[in-house]
Amino acid sequence: MGRVASYQTSGRRRSWLGPESTEPQAKQGINAEKDASPTANEAPRMSRNPAEFYRAQPVRDRRIHVMGLGSVGYFIAHSLKGIPNAPPVTLVFHSRNGLKQWEESPKRLQCVTDRDTERREGYDADLALSRSRYHGKEVGSNTGDPFPEGSDGQERPSAESIMYGESTEPINSLILCMKSTHVLSALSSVKHRLHKDSVICFLQNGMGIVEEVSKEIFPDVATRPHYMVGINSHGMHRTDDPFTVVHAGFGAISLGILPNERDREPAPYTPTPKFAAHSSPQPIEPVRPANPSPSAPPVTDSNSTFTTNSRYLLRTLLRTPVLCAAGFSPPDLLQLQLEKLAANCIINPLTVMLDGRNGSILYNYSLTRVIRLLLSEVSLVIRSLPELQYIPNVQQRFDPGRLETVVVGVANRTSDNISSMLADVRAGRQTEIDYINGWIVKKGEEMGVKCFMNFMLMHMVKGKGGFIQMELGEGVPFVEPRLGEEEVMIKDAFGDIPLADVVAGETSTPEEPEKLR
Ligand SMILES: NC(=O)c1ccc[n+]([C@@H]2O[C@H](COP(=O)([O-])OP(=O)(O)OC[C@H]3O[C@@H](n4cnc5c(N)ncnc54)[C@H](OP(=O)(O)O)[C@@H]3O)[C@@H](O)[C@H]2O)c1
Repeated sequence: MGRVASYQTSGRRRSWLGPESTEPQAKQGINAEKDASPTANEAPRMSRNPAEFYRAQPVRDRRIHVMGLGSVGYFIAHSLKGIPNAPPVTLVFHSRNGLKQWEESPKRLQCVTDRDTERREGYDADLALSRSRYHGKEVGSNTGDPFPEGSDGQERPSAESIMYGESTEPINSLILCMKSTHVLSALSSVKHRLHKDSVICFLQNGMGIVEEVSKEIFPDVATRPHYMVGINSHGMHRTDDPFTVVHAGFGAISLGILPNERDREPAPYTPTPKFAAHSSPQPIEPVRPANPSPSAPPVTDSNSTFTTNSRYLLRTLLRTPVLCAAGFSPPDLLQLQLEKLAANCIINPLTVMLDGRNGSILYNYSLTRVIRLLLSEVSLVIRSLPELQYIPNVQQRFDPGRLETVVVGVANRTSDNISSMLADVRAGRQTEIDYINGWIVKKGEEMGVKCFMNFMLMHMVKGKGGFIQMELGEGVPFVEPRLGEEEVMIKDAFGDIPLADVVAGETSTPEEPEKLR
């Protein structure tokens, strides 16, 4: 209270967001008061005027790079350009064809809201070609380096790994908007442009992506960038018009900056299995409760501060009205993620199996039994997570009955929608199931909870996806696109090539037609 009281001594209440603060980077969002106040090791003492505070700590680079230029990517990039003193935004294309299409277009993004089209321009564009990854390694980037690994087994970034036309400009703030399944290949293509002070904002559905990125792309804690996670409940889709997105459902984005292991001790939880298999059938009992290490620091570490880039990106997203973004602490954000995950674990795979809209799982006696069985596993896994053990009301919040209410609520509100997983399966695309039910199965295994039903459902979705891909694949590559269908493209290390060109031998890689046979 002391700090607030001293701040009001001028006689009238001044706000961090108030009209005096004309500075575009004025303080907003969570921890506003905490961040603006000087910390013990900061010298000299900072002014309490937010504008002066930010001038004293200038943002090094205001540019925001957006990768994953689909519905979410266009929506975010379009929204960012609509704010006063908009930041410079770079659209990072992952294929030469995409960049070429942009260069030949009027170079503007369109967002349609209630049939009202808003056009925004002034974007920069660059290229970072997707790198395929298998078994945790980048493959097929055709770098010409016969020894892409150093003696320590880590991949060496080399000048040759930068392909023709790719940008090498450093990235300070990056927003990732592609599907979870493409995050690793996307980050592989820009990892040499990110540094330890960069911030990456993840806007994917599902869980486990951040851990995977740390393990596979940035294993070295000393050089690992900072992470921010967003939960997006807006609904948008693309149209036939390129560079156009329809904002169909108004939602919000919950954002949180994750603590960096470099700046703080690991959390005081020991991930020990909570359940053990019994030789004779017995009711499942927790073997031991969560196991805090007595020497670990307190959960809230008052020394951890946001970096300049993290704070800048968070503040910029928070001051973008159409995003309806709000900041949360990591434990609150985790609980919101888990709630959304529980709904996705039911609605997405069941709508795939039923080939129906989200509302198709409602008011059906048999499907309600299926939902309850699945939720019993989801609830047990979530309530056993060691990182939630010290948060009050977790047992009630993630109780199977409460989760059923959440699922039914979401299915009701979105009853006319086709889930993204069903859309992916129908189109023969890879789904995000590994980061939804797959995450529950994986976490369950780590804690000794066997999630048979989620495992089976996950594989049924994959099976159906594979079956549809095969059916679609049988027609490729020798069928002509039908009237109104997109041109069939062939993936190549140099970008996407129209099939017609490959067959006619008009590509720069003459061996391609051979490969097709
Ligand atoms: N759409 C929504 O309403 C919504 C709402 C909430 C959450 N989400 C989540 O947001 C994420 C993105 O969804 P979305 O609907 O925007 O998907 P989307 O429309 O399919 O867009 C993904 C984009 O990423 C691009 N991409 C693929 N691989 C890439 C790579 N290696 N590097 C860079 N870009 C790559 C794709 O390019 P190509 O087109 O060339 O393949 C595509 O343009 C998903 O996790 C989704 O679940 C979506």
